[in-house]
Amino acid sequence: MNQVNYSITTPQAQLVRVAEIAAAWHGRPDKLMDVILEVQHIVPALAEDVAAVIAREMGISQNDVYSFVTFYSLLPVRPSGRHTIRACSNAPCHVRGSKAVMQGIEDFLKIRPGETTEDGMFTYTLCSCLGICDSSPAIMIDDKPYGNLNYESVQMLLKRYIREDVDAWNR
Ligand code: FES
Repeated sequence: MNQVNYSITTPQAQLVRVAEIAAAWHGRPDKLMDVILEVQHIVPALAEDVAAVIAREMGISQNDVYSFVTFYSLLPVRPSGRHTIRACSNAPCHVRGSKAVMQGIEDFLKIRPGETTEDGMFTYTLCSCLGICDSSPAIMIDDKPYGNLNYESVQMLLKRYIREDVDAWNR
């Protein structure tokens, strides 16, 4: 898959709003939680530029902002991809080959569970039973379930998503 650099640039209007919120608590690192809670209604992720604005306006280090957010899992540091892939990791799927399906996803997208592709197209996670064990091994992409997959077919499916040609796919 062709990977492009995935740089997050938060819209200027959102950064201005973030700056206003953070500036109200300049010199008050104890208010970081309040600032983050308010900011999460404005931005989808704690991108580098958002963390930099909060740090600058509050007079604290950017590392402090990241550590805080990571510790409390308040905001993702990257937005989710356009499509979310959930691969079932429960036993029925496992015995019918989910490991090969997961390997197919990981080899094709060059990401591991919990990660997002560099181009922001896919976020990949593992999950519990999707309720379609009769078609295992199964995954979901966004709200669509796909079953009876293997190493090759899951890659074909992902290619269809990249080509935006998923309607013709037969489960
Ligand atoms: S165990 Fe995988 S779909 Fe049920």
